[in-house]
Amino acid sequence: NHASRIFSGIQPTGIPHLGNYLGAIENWVRLQTEYSSVLYSIVDLHSITIPQDPSTLRQNILDMTASLLACGINPERAILFQQSKVAEHTELTWILGCLTSMPRLRHLPQWKMKSSGQNNEGTVGLFTYPVLQSADILLYKSTHVPVGEDQIQHLELTQDIARTFNNNYGNCFPVPKAILSETKKVKSLRNPTAKMSKSDPQQLATVNITDSPEEIALKFRKAVTDFTSEVTYDPEGRPGVSNLVAVHTALTGMSVEEVVHQSRGLDTARYKSVVAEVVIEKFAPIKNEIEKLRADQGFLEQVLNRGAEKARELAAPVHHEIRKLVGF
Ligand code: ADP
Ligand code: NA
Repeated sequence: NHASRIFSGIQPTGIPHLGNYLGAIENWVRLQTEYSSVLYSIVDLHSITIPQDPSTLRQNILDMTASLLACGINPERAILFQQSKVAEHTELTWILGCLTSMPRLRHLPQWKMKSSGQNNEGTVGLFTYPVLQSADILLYKSTHVPVGEDQIQHLELTQDIARTFNNNYGNCFPVPKAILSETKKVKSLRNPTAKMSKSDPQQLATVNITDSPEEIALKFRKAVTDFTSEVTYDPEGRPGVSNLVAVHTALTGMSVEEVVHQSRGLDTARYKSVVAEVVIEKFAPIKNEIEKLRADQGFLEQVLNRGAEKARELAAPVHHEIRKLVGF
């Protein structure tokens, strides 16, 4: 029995960007010190719901591993593992899928959004993706899941599936609770009303944590703001400069008031270089560490293998219990 256990996943998109860092990874680093049992998974099974080049995927898994370690994920505190190395995830997905109705999945916004470009005829994998997420969480009897606003409906599905399983087969899963993250979305530097995203095709819109100081300075210099030169915080009226203020506060821990006060008299051009400097300073040691880790693929693989072993150890008794309850 355990008091609480956290599960969270991140897709192997390679080197994370500033939005991933502030929106997910920084939380992960904090949570591993606040909870005694924590699992972080690099969810490669999820990533193949859209086509992936195999050698790129392999490299992206290693790059994400290196990045998480460099950002401060400690494999002694958190079990860091590659999802597909624990085969029980897929078996449990099947069992849970048999308890989940098609309409329940069809109404989830991720399906509506991601399959819309395909005339609502995306793959079975894309459609059942949220069931895989539920299996990820329940396989470890996780009690808490850090989620952003956009993932709440998926956690609600997980809660429903846990209850359904418990009702049908006998009590097994705790109903996991959300740990709602307060962090705001970092916006694209080229279009400050859209979120910063890996998949944004616009040049200079996304800051990666391994960008050189020159690249970071350039991206902020080119950041879209408006014709007012003052630094104020007004996300509705002035999304561009407000995004810079938000990044500044998030990375320094300063309040909006402090940042605005400290920036009095600066025009937005000068202010961009202030924020760029903050980002450069934050990411310099991380970039350094990522480069070191990337050069040692054997070490990264060892971390992933050890993580998978630990995850399997936790999954094994739950897996056994599930099979017995189902009648296998
Ligand atoms: P991307 O949009 O780059 O593909 P994902 O959707 O894979 O990123 O998200 C990975 C994690 O990073 C999630 O926890 C997500 O909430 C967080 N995240 C992604 N983009 C941002 C952003 N612009 N601001 C804050 N958090 C973000
Ligand atoms: Na995304």
